[in-house]
Amino acid sequence: MRKLTKTVLGGLILFGSLYAGDVYLTDKQNIPDLKMPDSNLTFKMIEDYQNYKIVATHFRTDKNELRYILANSIAYNALQAKEKVMPEGSKVVKIGWSVKKMTLFPSALEADKIQRVEYMIKDSKHFDANGDHWGYARFVKKENKFVVWDKGTKGCISCHSIAKSDDYLFTKMQSTFK
Ligand code: HEC
Repeated sequence: MRKLTKTVLGGLILFGSLYAGDVYLTDKQNIPDLKMPDSNLTFKMIEDYQNYKIVATHFRTDKNELRYILANSIAYNALQAKEKVMPEGSKVVKIGWSVKKMTLFPSALEADKIQRVEYMIKDSKHFDANGDHWGYARFVKKENKFVVWDKGTKGCISCHSIAKSDDYLFTKMQSTFK
C-alpha cells in the first residue's frame, strides 16, 4: 500500500513538473479589473495576451516608446496569410515601454517602464458604427497603477482610418527570417 502511494505520488510529481515545463507562466492573475467606458471593453478580455505571438516591433520617436505588437492565434494566422480583412475574434495588442540606456553598455537601449497596454478586437456585433468592426481599448500606467485611458476611443478610430485600406491596421507581420 505504501509503495502504491509512493508510486502514485511520484507519478503526480513527474506529471506536474512535465506539465509546468510545457506552459508559459504569465501575470494573468494580476490583470486589473478595468473597463473602457465607451467601448465597454475590459482589460480581462485579453487576460491571455502575454501568450500571444509578437508580430511586430515599433518605436515611436516622438514618444520615445518601444512597442511590441502581439496577436492572438486568429489574428496571427490571418496576418500570416496576408488576409485583407481580419476575421471575427481577432485581437491585436500593443504594449509600450519607455526606454533607458543599459548601465553596462550605454549605447544600447532597453525597455524601462511599462507605459500602456492597448488593443483592438474584431467584433462586428458590437462595433459596426463606423464600418470597421474594430473595438478599441487602452489602459495606461500612472504612478505604478494601470488606469483606463479617459479620452475615449474617438481618437483611435479617426487616426486608424489612415490605415483604412489595410483594415485599419498599421501593423504588418515583421519578418523573422528573410
Ligand atoms: C494619432 C494616431 C493614433 C491614435 C490616436 C491611435 N493610434 Fe493606435 N496606432 C497608431 C500607429 C501609427 C500605430 C503603429 C505604430 C505603433 O505601434 O505605434 C498604431 C498601432 C496600434 C495598434 C497595433 C495594431 C495596428 O494598427 O498597427 C493597436 C492595438 C492600437 N494602435 C490601438 C489604439 C487604441 C486603442 C487607440 C485609442 C485609445 C489608438 N490606437 C489611438 C496611431 C494611432
